Amino acid sequence: MSKDVNPAAKRIDQFISGPGGRADDWRDLVEAAKAWTRGGDRAKYDAGLSDLSVTEEFHGYPGLQLMAALREAASAGDASASFGLAMRITQALATRSFRQHASDWSVKDEGNGDAPDLLPPTFGQHAARRPYFETLIVTGLPSSNWPALAAEWRKLRRPVDAFVYEPVIVGSLEDAFCAAMLNPDLAAVVINEGFALRSRHDAPILRTMTANAGLNDESDASALRLAHIIKRLRPELDLYLISNRDVEAMAGDPEANVVRRIFYSIEELLELHLSILEGIQDRYDTPFFDNLKKYAQRPIGTFHALPIARGKSVFRSDWIRDMGEFYGLNLFLAESSATTGGLDSLLEPTGNIKKAQDKAARALGADRVFFVTNGTSTSNKMAVQALLAPGDIAIVDRNCHKSHHYGMVLAGAQPLYVEAFPMTEYSMYGAVPLQTIKQALLGARADGRLDRVKMLDLTNCTFDGHIYNTRRVMEECLAIKPDLIFLWDEAWFGFARFSPFLRRRTGLGAANDIEAWMHGPKSVELYENQQAELGKNPSEEVLLKTRLIPDPRQIRLRVYQTNSTHKSMSAIRQGSMLSVKDIEFHTVEAQFKEAIFTHASTSPNQQLIASLDVSRRQMELEGYGLVANAMEIAFAIRKAVNNNPLISKYFRILGADAMVPAQYRQSGFTDYLAAGANWASVLKSLDDDEFCLDPTRMTLVCGMAGFDGTQFKGILANEYNIQVNKTSRNSVLLQSNINNTRSDIALLIRVLAEIAGEIDRKLVQGGVNAMKTFVARVNSLMKDVPDLPNFSHFHPSFRGDAGEKTNEGDIRSGFYSAYDAAGCEYLRLGDSEIDRRLKSGPELVSASFVIPYPPGFPIMVPGQVITQETIDFMRKLDVKEIHGYDANEGLKLVRTEALAKIARPKAAATPGLKAASN
Ligand SMILES: Cc1ncc(COP(=O)(O)O)c(C=O)c1O
Repeated sequence: MSKDVNPAAKRIDQFISGPGGRADDWRDLVEAAKAWTRGGDRAKYDAGLSDLSVTEEFHGYPGLQLMAALREAASAGDASASFGLAMRITQALATRSFRQHASDWSVKDEGNGDAPDLLPPTFGQHAARRPYFETLIVTGLPSSNWPALAAEWRKLRRPVDAFVYEPVIVGSLEDAFCAAMLNPDLAAVVINEGFALRSRHDAPILRTMTANAGLNDESDASALRLAHIIKRLRPELDLYLISNRDVEAMAGDPEANVVRRIFYSIEELLELHLSILEGIQDRYDTPFFDNLKKYAQRPIGTFHALPIARGKSVFRSDWIRDMGEFYGLNLFLAESSATTGGLDSLLEPTGNIKKAQDKAARALGADRVFFVTNGTSTSNKMAVQALLAPGDIAIVDRNCHKSHHYGMVLAGAQPLYVEAFPMTEYSMYGAVPLQTIKQALLGARADGRLDRVKMLDLTNCTFDGHIYNTRRVMEECLAIKPDLIFLWDEAWFGFARFSPFLRRRTGLGAANDIEAWMHGPKSVELYENQQAELGKNPSEEVLLKTRLIPDPRQIRLRVYQTNSTHKSMSAIRQGSMLSVKDIEFHTVEAQFKEAIFTHASTSPNQQLIASLDVSRRQMELEGYGLVANAMEIAFAIRKAVNNNPLISKYFRILGADAMVPAQYRQSGFTDYLAAGANWASVLKSLDDDEFCLDPTRMTLVCGMAGFDGTQFKGILANEYNIQVNKTSRNSVLLQSNINNTRSDIALLIRVLAEIAGEIDRKLVQGGVNAMKTFVARVNSLMKDVPDLPNFSHFHPSFRGDAGEKTNEGDIRSGFYSAYDAAGCEYLRLGDSEIDRRLKSGPELVSASFVIPYPPGFPIMVPGQVITQETIDFMRKLDVKEIHGYDANEGLKLVRTEALAKIARPKAAATPGLKAASN
């Protein structure tokens, strides 16, 4: 949320946009200084400076000296010096030049005149640009000693250091917490024992949170406690403890596993400095990319099937040289193959790809990661194939990406489709309610088939931004089936790992929380208490109503996550990762190898692999700030659209309250931008609510402006060079990401204002008739929306050996029925035969997937019985792109006679394995 929404609540605990809001605070200060220099009131400047003096304590730049100089100029009543210095600092922050230029650290405007103590002689003079970061020092020393302490740290810098850092000193647990939240440049934290608990500043909401966490008196401010708190906020940070006591005992404490190194007393400062640099180097190293760069510099003659490598035939050509010039020589020098030697193999990595994958696993909180070079479409198919055998049942969101459905076909697994809640008015689906998922599991249990249900396969977040309560979903499912496998398709959500707010709602974030809970002191007792309350045979109704606690002793935690690294991080298109946290992985490792061999190209693109490696480096070193910025941009866009009087006449971005029905927002949370919302209420919503909204995914309703989604997407792309994500009947989806800047917002808002102004003008000039046509169009888009058809059921011929209470089906035999041309027929949508058969039979059975874009989910899958709702939806659909359907041919159906020939097989003798049914 932004301070504009909550002006009175500008405190150090307004964190969600913390790092993002800083630039605005400085710009406001400059404006206030400018007004003061022009003879205006100085009160605004003083208030701004006083606020900034608090939050700037958590940053290395501008630092103690420049902030003191600003305060001195203010108390001397020198408006022009205040303006000059505030302006210089703001520019240095905006351009990030302070990371390289010593003069930015100087109180005077020129040279490095009075900064010799503050800065080492080598700062800014290194031939190559050295990456800059900040190190948080938590200390019990009084603040009067901090300038001297900072000087000690700066003296450690040497020309040979690969990186340069500035210390940021705080004296309490609360301030350390604030610094970790507000300062995205922090990359390491040094915790000295003896610091205080409370901040010197006003932090009421923070205090409620610390009280809830049991941090109430000074003895709670222990170094290990703080280490755990910071690790939870920002797991990527390296932590160092300095103790004057029994370091051996501390080092042996299992709780110290979050700390990179423990030092005895401050006397080893140089060692500590070197350790800090080594820790950064470890994150900076990109084993595959580093090796590829070296490889590209070697003089290599290739007699391999890689004619483009080295680029000779490109740069010598009159005809294709422009390609070489466009991409640059390095691309061709780096074009290679695993089989040329020197590089690792993606299919069986043992060298630097393996190392790069291990680092990615660390970054994502997984046990292992597979790099995938054909998108998450492939990651999903690999996971489904590796984890499911023919006849296994998987509970699947019917609205999930097509790769899952095709994965089920390949694996011969039986999808048990579950439905997301519909958002009919916007022609889109939400996410699958937990009740529905539990019902599917309990149904399978009642049928005696729970052992066949192997997997729950869900999309988190959904295309439109619905985020599951991943922890609750997994816990409740594990209470019913303790070894259930979870596949979380987080194609859009990989970045969420780097937000302390969103991480808990990722598959792996929740898996790590569940693992910690399982081994915690209270889990068994909690489970047993609930069992005692539930009694011996609780009814299905009771089980559905209760928030079930799993037996921590029985859980086999098996969690998989796929993410399109190219969709939310800096990977080249198609770069994807498959992450594993599976205690039983050894039992499926061979199957994973087979899945990789099945799906991965034997000629994977080296640049793509390198970009996955580099994406990991970036996220580990600056992901926190980038993600906070993406969220801040989204809040700014939401606010700018919804609060602009002209734009909001025709456009609206849907808040959490519109995207998530109230029944799924149990905490009472309405929206990030609602009055009174603060980070504590956001956290409560993220902890408790069944569904939350990813703020970076913005549904912009354009039906109110008389545009359908596809039409509006075209206008934005063709006339204004703005690309948007997906569309629905009356909306387009905007997405902010780590690449967006404030200028992007300005462009979008200006364009929307222009379009809204144009509509206004046309309506005024067009008179009554234009208004009538406009209203009719808006009504058609906003009100005359087709009902979204639910999945009906598989035809009995494709029910395999399904049970009574669940609706899984043998999608593979449905799929292959389409291969029998004589066994299929076509009926055009307008044909009255369709209506006759819907009324009097025989049933219409789809022979193929039919997937309209938008909305992009299969409204028919092979073997599915087609109902009136599906036909109504198809007939109302006004989109051009429908995969699996050719309007000239019509719907492809399995002939009734062919259905009769498909005998429904008997239940397989071996659970989990079933004879092919055709
Ligand atoms: C939920 C979901 N999963 C998977 C994919 C496929 O990912 P990729 O484009 O990386 O193959 C998409 C693509 O849009 C998606 O929306």
